[in-house]
Amino acid sequence: MNELGAKIAITGCGSSTPTQVITNDDLSHLVDTSDEWIRTRTGIGRRHLASADTSVSDLAAQAAQGAIAMAGLTPQDIDLIILATSTPDDLFGSAAKVQQLLGASNAVAFDLTAACSGFVFALVTAAQFIRTGVYQRVVVIGADVLSRWVDWSDRSTCVLFGDGAGAVVCQGNPNEDRLLGFEMYSDGQQHHSLNLSYQGQPTTLKEGVLIGQGTYQPITMNGREVYRFAVAKVPEVIEKALFRANLSTDAIDWLILHQANQRIMDAVAQRLNIPPEKVIANLGEYGNTSAASIPIALDEAVREGKIKTGDIIASSGFGAGLTWGAAVFRWGI
Ligand code: ACO
Repeated sequence: MNELGAKIAITGCGSSTPTQVITNDDLSHLVDTSDEWIRTRTGIGRRHLASADTSVSDLAAQAAQGAIAMAGLTPQDIDLIILATSTPDDLFGSAAKVQQLLGASNAVAFDLTAACSGFVFALVTAAQFIRTGVYQRVVVIGADVLSRWVDWSDRSTCVLFGDGAGAVVCQGNPNEDRLLGFEMYSDGQQHHSLNLSYQGQPTTLKEGVLIGQGTYQPITMNGREVYRFAVAKVPEVIEKALFRANLSTDAIDWLILHQANQRIMDAVAQRLNIPPEKVIANLGEYGNTSAASIPIALDEAVREGKIKTGDIIASSGFGAGLTWGAAVFRWGI
């Protein structure tokens, strides 16, 4: 094992969000809703939506470029790219396209799907490659364009989602292992709560050979079930990750949760006894950007100078699957 490879630092971040914006008032012309309902129930004011000619790969590559530059590296230095997405441009995967757009010709690249937990799951996956000494410089990207899969006539879901991408660079670190603790879960029993599922029509190819050809259906969600799940499981998973890190909640400088609903974030922070000023939230501007929400929030807070080198961040993603996870890390090198 490479000696440098055993420890990890998160050395750069970047993000990219589309310029097109749709406000709550705009949505009230599409469905029976209001700015007041959306703001009070979710905390969302606007969301950024990818244009027809913007791909997930474009947003992901832009976010990765920012992260690689902040880390003081070039795309050629990157060994591995993990793209967490549920909305690839191509079902065979979009990570290799991102590799090409970046010019990261020395990197192997693959997609990872875990809905809104995707970024945390990908970060932990990246850490395993670094800890085993296999790779030294890994780009982890969370990117989603859920606007392509939302039913824009369904007021219970269309008000929630936006598009974007965020990325970090993880590197082997000779000093301290800065991924301090993590914990991840899946519960397929609750799979029905949140879906973007394939539906095929039976098609006979020859007698006795029936296949199902069709397409993916728009997002369906039991909002109340997902809400209850998040409020119960997210504090628990953060506490477990903190336990693994041998830290108490007081040690957390910043809480960055998947940006799904302000009420969920408030409830989780309250359960953990974390004051509101330590909670990083930007869903008022972007809505729920799925796998992208944590790294976009991280990137904005780092670039604003809020998060400083050495700060301890507790992050938690949760969503379809159902899946949920937490990662506690120290920012920077
Ligand atoms: N505008 C106006 N009224 C609405 C809207 C809307 N956009 N949407 C629903 N309503 C109505 C409902 O029809 C219902 O009316 P009724 O009482 O006459 O039946 C009423 O508002 C209340 O509906 P609820 O669903 O009970 O509203 P709730 O307070 O639970 O808020 C919400 C709904 C915002 C979806 C909430 O349940 C939530 O945030 N759930 C969690 C979602 C989430 O976290 N997803 C994360 C994962 S995403 C991923 O993994 C891709």
